[in-house]
Amino acid sequence: MKILMVCLGNICRSPLAHGILKQKVKDRQLNWVVESAGTGDWHIGEAPDRRAIAIAKKYGVDISDQRARHFQPRFFDEYDYIFVMDRQNFADVCAKVQNTADLDKVQLFLEDDVVPDPYFDDNLFDPVFQMIDKRCSEVIEKVSLSS
Ligand code: 4NP
Repeated sequence: MKILMVCLGNICRSPLAHGILKQKVKDRQLNWVVESAGTGDWHIGEAPDRRAIAIAKKYGVDISDQRARHFQPRFFDEYDYIFVMDRQNFADVCAKVQNTADLDKVQLFLEDDVVPDPYFDDNLFDPVFQMIDKRCSEVIEKVSLSS
């Protein structure tokens, strides 16, 4: 199973989802690949935002070695699930699909809600961590059941 987490900058939300799910996958000894990317290209090659690194560290997850990547159309072939954090990410990723199989892989991470962007609000990092953490456990169940 290969899972891609996507947000705008790939320095706040998707690195958290990437790191948290990767840790849960490891804890459960699942042979899954978890990675992330951003629809924007401003932060390519950068480490996650220091506030994202700090909140992850507070809860025992190390995301400091991640580096931001830009979403590429070939990722539709490389991943089984592409989870996006908000509706703009959904639109931006869907704009790059080639066929319905690509489209089927794209899902809102929270299904019927969005992960708010914490980039301009320091106080959002903790609640964003909590909502991503809870959903990552659900994603493991959901993906396990469908495979
Ligand atoms: P992210 O947050 O999409 O959760 O990584 C953002 C990071 C950077 C910017 C916007 C959102 N930015 O405008 O640079």
